Amino acid sequence: MSSYVDRLSYAARQTARVAWYAGHYAAGRRFLKPMPKPDFPIGPTPSRSELTADMRSLFEREWRDISAGLFPAPRPLVPEPRELLRRSLLYFRDLPQVDARRHGRLADELPPGTQADGLPDYYRQNFHFQSDGWLSERSAALYDTQVEVLFTGAADAMRRRALKPVAEWMKARNQRTLRGLDVGCGTGRLLAFLHEAWPGMKWTGLDLSPPYLAEARRTIGRTARVKLVEGAAEKLPFEESSLDVVVSSFLLHELPADVRRAALLEMARVVKPDGLVVVVDSIQKGDAPGWDGLLDLFPHHFHEPYYAEYAGGRLETWLDGAGFRQVSAERAFLSKVIAARR
Ligand SMILES: C[S@@+](CC[C@H](N)C(=O)[O-])C[C@H]1O[C@@H](n2cnc3c(N)ncnc32)[C@H](O)[C@@H]1O
Repeated sequence: MSSYVDRLSYAARQTARVAWYAGHYAAGRRFLKPMPKPDFPIGPTPSRSELTADMRSLFEREWRDISAGLFPAPRPLVPEPRELLRRSLLYFRDLPQVDARRHGRLADELPPGTQADGLPDYYRQNFHFQSDGWLSERSAALYDTQVEVLFTGAADAMRRRALKPVAEWMKARNQRTLRGLDVGCGTGRLLAFLHEAWPGMKWTGLDLSPPYLAEARRTIGRTARVKLVEGAAEKLPFEESSLDVVVSSFLLHELPADVRRAALLEMARVVKPDGLVVVVDSIQKGDAPGWDGLLDLFPHHFHEPYYAEYAGGRLETWLDGAGFRQVSAERAFLSKVIAARR
């Protein structure tokens, strides 16, 4: 059972994270020139206090699950203050280039010499106006800070909402016999939390980016229980019905519709009939009444080539179309977490 001290420690850590990344957000605005007014209609947007209250309720729900014993309180994944500062400096040093891309002063450039690497065209872009797209160590080192600044310190907590349906499914199962997969694992944040919660289980993280996989290894640490493999979500290198749990966080909104459909069909193919699939991704239009304007502005401010199409669709319907039956759904701040069975 968690004690009062555990609760205080959890609250202090999350508050410190939010303050750290909110500080980056505020300071970063000095480097970023305002974007021109969009020339398309924008839906309603929430007030700052509404967003803050919603974020608080995300942390409260997570704490309830931790204190109910569903999964452990998260350990900080960047424990060294020096490392935190290094990442912070990297982030601020990169902002002028992000700003130049936002205002069209830099071409959509990616690291040279990579055209023959076999990566799909839809993938070779400066997603988020990020330097090098998904294709360099520099980008991999910057990514976690960029995402946390965007979500003012709540990105990890949103990813961790996937732990609840996994924990409920895991009851009465022996984790040592189970195999899980994180599709588009990126820098390995969700995988690290899953491994920490169920260290006896064998996990694989799959991603198209070798530098992101290398960063995931640094985040997770050396362990034979977590394998990291280069591969495409739309062509998973696993046998039919071979995996017990398949998760994916913030991948689907980065994919064109046909690739997204193929990726969902692949998840349905590789998961066992009694297995579980959990998808965490951005909310879509209508999920949070009064917030649709944020979804209109996001691709405009952050170069998300496939997001507008994603935001206008229904993840629930796409899962259904891939042969899944939904077992739970939760809106978690700016994301939603859907658990489904085949
Ligand atoms: C927005 S990031 C999400 C990463 C991570 N899951 C997270 O929660 O932060 C998208 C990730 O998906 C990867 N990715 C994009 N398209 C992919 C594909 N077709 N197959 C596998 N990985 C892909 C990118 O390399 C990147 O690491």
